[in-house]
Amino acid sequence: MGRHSNERPAPEHVAIIMDGNGRWAQARGKPRLFGHHAGARRVREIVEACPDLGVKYLTIFAFSTENWKRTQAEVSGLMRLFKRYLMSETKELIEAGVRVRFIGDRMKLEDTLVSLMDELELLTCENDKVHLTVALNYGGRDEVARATKRLSREVAAGRLDPEAVNAETLARYLDTYVLPDPDLVIRTSGEARISNFLLWQSAYSEYEFVDTLWPDFTREEFARVIGGFSARDRRYGAVPG
Ligand code: IPE
Ligand code: IPE
Ligand code: MG
Repeated sequence: MGRHSNERPAPEHVAIIMDGNGRWAQARGKPRLFGHHAGARRVREIVEACPDLGVKYLTIFAFSTENWKRTQAEVSGLMRLFKRYLMSETKELIEAGVRVRFIGDRMKLEDTLVSLMDELELLTCENDKVHLTVALNYGGRDEVARATKRLSREVAAGRLDPEAVNAETLARYLDTYVLPDPDLVIRTSGEARISNFLLWQSAYSEYEFVDTLWPDFTREEFARVIGGFSARDRRYGAVPG
């Protein structure tokens, strides 16, 4: 609305594909899990940086529906890490005013992990400073399929008119129904692909691919990437105005 592109505010919702933990560990001659632990330690710094940068929503990709293809040792190590991480960060997150949510299919996760996830969502549900969403056993296609299944049940029960179904209807059945679409999606580690992350929601997101491996991604680099976003011109299919 008459605003110059260089005056664009910070992205309200930033989503991050935290990639490169394995290579970070390999470069140090360590097992992949060593990289995952280093990666987990990075998360707090990035969450803490959000309020000052004007980022209200942060969504992070922690485990994809395809990551089960990894070795049993890596998968179970990651699940242990998630449990330990959620327990150790609870107090910090509550005190920092972070509201935590999880997206993804919980059915395939172990009960003890799901209980911790439920508990953290409940304990932080009054917080509003930063909205942190963790994508755990998340896949964009799986999410759309699960949403379609729930929507179909409503149609079959006669509660939803199939002729009335449009994009907004479907979006209400996605795991992200309470979240705005991401303005900016960042992927670390030099890979330029989406890997099934927020397929529906990122239709008009800006993308930024950085070479840094996730365990090395600092608050300073995060701030730089966000600064770069503010210079971009988003047109949403219209003519520049
Ligand atoms: C991202 O790091 C973390 C998860 C997928 C759980 P990777 O484990 O994919 O690290 P690289 O890509 O092998 O270096
Ligand atoms: C995407 O990274 C998933 C997460 C960061 C959790 P991957 O490392 O699994 O993606 P690909 O296999 O390189 O596409
Ligand atoms: Mg990877």
